[in-house]
Amino acid sequence: MTDQATKIDQDVTTAERIDGKAFAAALRADVAEGAARFQAQAGRQPGLAVVLVGDDPASQVYVKTKMRQAAEAGIASFPHLLPGSTSQAHLLQLIDALNSDDQVDGILVQLPLPAQIEETAVIEAIDPAKDVDGFHPVNVGRLSTGQPALVPCTPLGCLLLLQDRLGDLSGKKAVVVGRSNIVGKPMGQLLLNASCTVTTVHSRTQDLAAECRSADILVVAVGRPEMIDASYIKPGAIVLDVGINRIEMAEGKSRLTGDVDFAAASSVAGAVTPVPGGIGPMTVACLLRNTLSAAQARVAE
Ligand code: GUN
Repeated sequence: MTDQATKIDQDVTTAERIDGKAFAAALRADVAEGAARFQAQAGRQPGLAVVLVGDDPASQVYVKTKMRQAAEAGIASFPHLLPGSTSQAHLLQLIDALNSDDQVDGILVQLPLPAQIEETAVIEAIDPAKDVDGFHPVNVGRLSTGQPALVPCTPLGCLLLLQDRLGDLSGKKAVVVGRSNIVGKPMGQLLLNASCTVTTVHSRTQDLAAECRSADILVVAVGRPEMIDASYIKPGAIVLDVGINRIEMAEGKSRLTGDVDFAAASSVAGAVTPVPGGIGPMTVACLLRNTLSAAQARVAE
């Protein structure tokens, strides 16, 4: 082989593209089977209340997708679309009503909320048994102590993809980039519960690239477009890209991109999730799975 041919070989994409979209479709089909069994037993469909305050376009798209996919899986959804001027007291009243509504097994309040509403107060008002986002401190505490819990959907989706590819994760070196309550922190807990050696890195971490390069499993959730290039990735690592960033282009056009430079990562990693079509669809599928679990737990009580 000539030197030129060797160089071209090295430049060729090597990583497998992890098809989160297909995996999520299979997961939704499993949920649909479970929802049908639930309906036969309980005489009603599992129910998901979806609350959206305001008219943020990205949130509207997410909420629509959640409700459409719920319907396709045999889960009833109860939309509550409130104006951006809604007061915290009004929202808390609605949550009280949903907590006592027997048709409702899961309550999802789309975040972020408008400035006049305190996110923590809303999350803490949700009955932990209906907290399908897994954000309530009771579920956070259960996850961190290894008890059965409703677990945040995005990290749960990441864990399912990893277990599908690798089986037992025990002893793997996992690095989580980002420390949010929605993704980074619960992701670290889930990986720790799966017996990984876990490091969480963030904007103040010294030599972030070196930390990332030690990872067999790299999960990135920072909201910085294409921040992770080949220099952050250990050869053969599995890279999960949780970021969804919209980049404005010429003539009013835009494109979606992740926190990982997909092409660069593909030249080093063993497998990488794309954006779109990677983790995003897993989040919604896990929301439906959590709703079914919450419904089953409620009727078993
Ligand atoms: N906003 C961004 N991600 C999420 C999520 O997982 N759940 C809710 N409720 N809002 C979000």
